Amino acid sequence: MNSKTSKDFIAKNIRQFKQLRADIDMHDRLYYRENNPQISDFEYDCLKAELLRIQGVLKNVGIDTNEDKIGNDLSNGFSKVQHLSPMQSLANTYSYDELLAFDNRVSKQLNGRKYTYVVEPKIDGVAVNLIYKNGHLEHALTRGDGTTGDEVLQNILTIENLPTELQNCPEIIEIRGEVFIDEETFDSENEYRNANGMEEYANPRNLAAGTIKSLDVEDVKKRHLRAIFYAIGYSSNTQFSTQQSVLEQLPKWGFHSQEKFWHVKDIDEAWQSIAQLDIARKNFKYWTDGAVLKINELDLHKELGTTAKAPHWAIAYKFAPTRVSTMLKDIIFQVGRTGVITPIAVLDPIEIDGSVITRATLHNADDIARKDIRIGDYVFLEKAGEIIPAIVSVDLDRRNKNSKPFSFPTKCPSCNQPLERIADEVAWRCLNPNCPEQLKCKITYFVSKDALNIDGLGETVIQNLIAQKKVHNVADIYRLTFRDLLSIPKLGQKSALKILDNIDKSKNCHIWRIINGLGILGIGEQTAKDLAQQFSSIQDLSHATTDQLANISGIGQKLAESIVKFFQSPAEQSLIKQLEDLGLRLNSQPVDCQGDTKIFDNKIFVLTGTLDHFTRAQIKEIIEILGGNVSETISKKVDILIVGSNPGSKLSQAEKLKITIWSESDLIQNCLHSGVKIPQLGSYFSNFEIKH
Ligand code: IVH
Repeated sequence: MNSKTSKDFIAKNIRQFKQLRADIDMHDRLYYRENNPQISDFEYDCLKAELLRIQGVLKNVGIDTNEDKIGNDLSNGFSKVQHLSPMQSLANTYSYDELLAFDNRVSKQLNGRKYTYVVEPKIDGVAVNLIYKNGHLEHALTRGDGTTGDEVLQNILTIENLPTELQNCPEIIEIRGEVFIDEETFDSENEYRNANGMEEYANPRNLAAGTIKSLDVEDVKKRHLRAIFYAIGYSSNTQFSTQQSVLEQLPKWGFHSQEKFWHVKDIDEAWQSIAQLDIARKNFKYWTDGAVLKINELDLHKELGTTAKAPHWAIAYKFAPTRVSTMLKDIIFQVGRTGVITPIAVLDPIEIDGSVITRATLHNADDIARKDIRIGDYVFLEKAGEIIPAIVSVDLDRRNKNSKPFSFPTKCPSCNQPLERIADEVAWRCLNPNCPEQLKCKITYFVSKDALNIDGLGETVIQNLIAQKKVHNVADIYRLTFRDLLSIPKLGQKSALKILDNIDKSKNCHIWRIINGLGILGIGEQTAKDLAQQFSSIQDLSHATTDQLANISGIGQKLAESIVKFFQSPAEQSLIKQLEDLGLRLNSQPVDCQGDTKIFDNKIFVLTGTLDHFTRAQIKEIIEILGGNVSETISKKVDILIVGSNPGSKLSQAEKLKITIWSESDLIQNCLHSGVKIPQLGSYFSNFEIKH
């Protein structure tokens, strides 16, 4: 290679690396933070494999890209607790050959030493780490960044039959497993979201992930979380020598554990067990997306070691997705709230894994062109762990000779304005701010549970208001009158008054809801919360620079640019000004307070049990700032006992003395309701909202 081609070659690879890195960062954010993945695990693994390939190429020419990181689910509003041993992930395989390659590596590394395998189901849920001290459940942590997790004990305690006390166990032990949601809850939640114009959860894993990170334990109870446990992390006493004995012990301690697993002598037997598992799992009452192959002998785990991300002693095998073929009858188009035009495949109804499919998303124009999908074609549909099936390819043998390549529309199906493709984006967009369909989606989202949470303004009401030209943008919601609402068919006086009341209440909501509701490209609920944590007002956020934003954990360069661009738009600036003039609170200062900031003046508090959202030191600080005192012991002088999970004897002592008992959320709500405006407290409560 001459020096010019070598330079071009390196530059091209660096460009590709940066692009892939940005795409993967975006998918990591969608998966870990927004719980809203937009590609399958397989597609994600392909991106990762390509990234590693380019990384290898660059390494050969002396450029180190330092690529070995694990996802991060840490969120604001939870106490951070260190795992006693790191929580890792697993490498994925998709074929027998890949499993064989894994086995060869193990065999080579163990240099003739004997080993066997355990094959067990790979549960499609969210990892959790339970820490027991002296047999007592002290922490329930998410994976977080692998070293430190979010404390979600209160939410995990809603799981039925979860053992909070263990008999005959090591002094300190970590029990690891997977939390998931049952099928019924998943279906009914998505029905609700669908009916209210909200984006459905792509799969049960995402709903489970969102639920364990909920700040409202009452909401969590309604979701019927469940869990299966399959491993021990740290243990102060090495009482187990095999994975098999771990799986046998867990149910004895009362854990819901793997209902089926196989102990096998080699990789071929492991492959047979995987096939058996693929049949058996059809009768499981929860979702599994593969098998996990683990070296049974625990002493060999140490010897085999790990990378930063995954151990060398285990590997996941992902089951091949179910594939069916059907006819593509038509392609129709949906206009989203940001103007994106999404093509939808209308299919000859076909059953796949027990459900009848009539529609499938086609992603975008490029995807249709790349797969050369034409109306009238027979297409292959696949359903993997994801609930929404996707068209993977066309059955060319069955193509009609007269079929014509599909051409993407050039005009908006709703307002007939020309569509545009913005540089660097795959999507075609309608840029008409008055496009009725876009407006309907925008407003439906703005008032949804994930944004301003204005109950009563359903899709039909909004459609009517747009048709009657009563609303032209989200600010017009705050200009609606009683008479406007009464003009909507079947909407009575009582409902109209209730809606007006809900609209009024939403003016004081937390700013993350407004940030989310505005419809900034790429921003979802979690990112909106992250931004609200960093900026105390929409005004401050609107002045942030790309660099400032890109430095916030979980926000990459692309998203930072999207935020800056949004706030530079004169139309959006005018909208925000209108919202402010109409009385929306665009900063995160607690609501106005003329009076007393010492709401706990001279009150004596005692704490017991594990708190979910704050550390004891933080709670103490909050109480003291608000004029109260914290004591260690219960006596007649104590006014309020704050109770966390697994309370000690202080609870019964307080009950005897008829002392007021508050949960952590009672304390939070009391602080919020009082409306105290104390700068030191601002960041403590920025993730909580007043409940009415
Ligand atoms: S063992 C070192 N066993 O899948 C990793 N993980 O994609 C130890 N998972 O991080 C994990 N079922 O959250 C293990 N039977 C099983 C599993 C399982 C589901 C999850 C786990 C892991 C992820 C990797």
